[in-house]
Amino acid sequence: MRVLFLASEVDGLIKTGGLADVARVLPIELQNKDVDVAIMIPCYPQVKAMLHPGQEAPVQMTMQLGSTHYVYHVHELSPFGVPVYAIDFPGYFDRDRPYDDGHHAYGDNGERFAFFSLAAMQAAQMLNFQPDILHCNDWHTALAPFFLKSVLKDNLFFANTRSVLTIHNGAYQGNFDLNTIHFAHTFSHFTEEGMYDSYNIINFLKCGVLYADAINAVSPSYAKELLSPLGGHYMSHIFQRREDALTGILNGCDYGEWNSETDPYLTAPYSASDLTGKAACKADLQRQMGLPEEAETPLFAMVSRFTDQKGFSLLVPALERFLESSEAQVAIVGSGEQGITDALQHLADKHPERMGLFVGYSDALSHQAQAGADFFLMPSIFEPCGLTQMFSLAYGSLPIAREVGGLKDTVVGYTSGNESNANGITFIDPNGEGMYWALEKAEHLYRDEPEHFRAIQQNAMATRFSWQEATDKYLAMYYKLLA
Ligand code: ADP
Ligand code: GLC
Repeated sequence: MRVLFLASEVDGLIKTGGLADVARVLPIELQNKDVDVAIMIPCYPQVKAMLHPGQEAPVQMTMQLGSTHYVYHVHELSPFGVPVYAIDFPGYFDRDRPYDDGHHAYGDNGERFAFFSLAAMQAAQMLNFQPDILHCNDWHTALAPFFLKSVLKDNLFFANTRSVLTIHNGAYQGNFDLNTIHFAHTFSHFTEEGMYDSYNIINFLKCGVLYADAINAVSPSYAKELLSPLGGHYMSHIFQRREDALTGILNGCDYGEWNSETDPYLTAPYSASDLTGKAACKADLQRQMGLPEEAETPLFAMVSRFTDQKGFSLLVPALERFLESSEAQVAIVGSGEQGITDALQHLADKHPERMGLFVGYSDALSHQAQAGADFFLMPSIFEPCGLTQMFSLAYGSLPIAREVGGLKDTVVGYTSGNESNANGITFIDPNGEGMYWALEKAEHLYRDEPEHFRAIQQNAMATRFSWQEATDKYLAMYYKLLA
């Protein structure tokens, strides 16, 4: 079995979110199960920086698209044992941030990622890497299944290749005016059914959904939600057309990286049977976030992209009340939209003793926040899978999660009487009231029912999301396509 895995980010090379985590671990796990797998990624500067002198010379390729004669290179790396091929076309990819300049999405994103998919498939041919499965991820590479069935339809190299599209986030669809893709007109197929949304707009994700041989969402609940008008990101009718080809496969958690007994970022190791180190991690987090070191005060942490998806419209009004009414502490780590940053900063300024905010990206602090917290905030509006709540469970920080998508599939909310299997606190209402209710419930659990808190914490730390199991499900999906 040979799998070509296309992703726009891979942890260890470049990362903006959970897609990168998955795009590293899943190929490793596939390889562990004897799959011949290779990853292709755009050659961003962070990727180029990992090339070392003496490395094999890159392969040079050329491609004619519209009026442009592209000359690009393909570098081979092996950052974690799986071959990674980086498509090097500096005009498109020599940019520090993969998708935007920090304020606005790049105007040529459609052209960049359409090119990437085509170049990846050309590179596969050049390298004679003939895939049984072309595994694409999110909108960035969602055109590849379409190309396979249109421009490459008669290409014998791909005659037996089947395509898979994994949807990590259906809200990002890649909508582009065709006029921004200068070579769009060369694909007369772009006029085929499903390609245009309207007004000359192409929707990459929609193309992938219509043309991939199999589609999966990263949790069973999210797969279901995609079929409903509320959860389908205005594309539920398209998902419904492919309902037979759509499944949900829950992501795993990388317990090699997320192991509180060996995590090099932590000030002290700890385990479920000996939580002494966790108290030291809490004091360390309080120090780092400028909060008073109070062992007995419940500490609520969050590590997140600052975007509407993550539920800040619930969290901010709930915190406004909670920081007044409680004696709890809050530590938030993340970056993203300015409006959200400003709202959080306002709260932190108003309650310097109660709330700490770190704006930025830090692997170290993300681990330290997971370890130091008593509770982890995850009030998402929608959540395809969510990895951070899996990390928090492993680290014994009880997730406070809204019952949606992958959160529904991973967090068992505490209700009186289910202490033996609850691993967190959940709520349903997507508003500040719902969130506030959950925060109060958490504080009550921590202060007034310490034995229940400990029991639920033990359940959390024993919860496992296996990548081996997830990989078996991907393999089963591949084999079904090839049967
Ligand atoms: P999403 O992909 O929607 O952002 P996930 O929970 O699947 O959500 O994955 C987010 C990933 O990004 C996790 O690995 C998380 O630790 C990481 N992350 C998010 N924000 C930060 C940050 N500010 N610093 C370090 N890591 C972060
Ligand atoms: C996306 C989703 C997140 C998921 C991740 C990895 O970024 O927002 O829920 O965990 O992809 O699949």
